[in-house]
Amino acid sequence: MCKSTVKKSKLLEQLNRAIRAPEGKSYNGYVFWGVDIGTANVVTVAADRQGRPLAGAVTPAKVTKEGLIVDYVGAVEVVKKQVAHIQKKLHCPLGVAMSAIPPGTEKGNGRVTANILESAGLDVVGVIDEPEAAGLVLAVENGAIVDVGGGTTGISIIKEGRVLYSEDEATGGFQFDLVIAGHFGIAVEQAEQMKKNKAEQERLYPIVQPVMAKVASIMEKSFRGERPEEIYLVGGACAFQGFSDFICKYTGIPTYIPQYPLLVTPMGIALACARAVRAEEITA
Ligand SMILES: Nc1ncnc2c1ncn2[C@@H]1O[C@H](COP(=O)(O)OP(=O)(O)OP(=O)(O)O)[C@@H](O)[C@H]1O
Ligand SMILES: [Mg+2]
Repeated sequence: MCKSTVKKSKLLEQLNRAIRAPEGKSYNGYVFWGVDIGTANVVTVAADRQGRPLAGAVTPAKVTKEGLIVDYVGAVEVVKKQVAHIQKKLHCPLGVAMSAIPPGTEKGNGRVTANILESAGLDVVGVIDEPEAAGLVLAVENGAIVDVGGGTTGISIIKEGRVLYSEDEATGGFQFDLVIAGHFGIAVEQAEQMKKNKAEQERLYPIVQPVMAKVASIMEKSFRGERPEEIYLVGGACAFQGFSDFICKYTGIPTYIPQYPLLVTPMGIALACARAVRAEEITA
């Protein structure tokens, strides 16, 4: 029987601790920012030159829909607040930043995310593909990275450490909420709170199973007949208990899940930012 494996990551543990800590340590070095503007959450990470997390912020926000920014002003406001919150915690100066876009999104949308960060006072040095960012944290050499977020499932096939191709389909955590809301006759927002409660997840499992099967079939289709060696699940929706085991059983492919799936892509964006600037310094 196929069982998924929880993958520990020092970076993600540090980031989770830094987000939860009420106080931060003063930091007067250069800061490298990674901002992930998602369908369900805006997540901002501040890292040092080595890409180690210093602080972070997670804010639920509905500023994006299926990879498109639908509330530009709202997004700027959230990022501004997060940056101010982190700066207050670290007493740090502003620095350079990167944003990210889901695979297959038009380049123009990348420019929009960069403009949001610029409007929040950050100096943008690049825009990265979300799965590429996740891949930096997980150090995947060969396999599939599957990001099940609030609104979409993004799949990237990695060969020898490089993204071979990526796809993005509109099924994610929101569809879990919809079926729970439908089953109990409750509001979608209430259904989402219920879903995120670990104590409720066992009894919700049979209700959300069809959505899990949909995600698994989207994944299989995206493999284009070639089985990846391993599957790495990221994104908040993967935190649902039993989801990673379900994917493992459905596909028969060894499946890995990090402890904090929601934080992988944002951490990777900050890491990419620090690496990009270091590389520039070396070649300058
Ligand atoms: N503990 C949890 N159990 C189950 N689902 C969770 C948990 N925590 C968060 N989620 C779900 O994860 C989703 C948000 O994940 P994430 O922050 O990765 O999405 P996003 O990046 O905002 O969206 P997208 O990538 O689709 O644009 C939401 O649907 C949320 O309800
Ligand atoms: Mg996301």
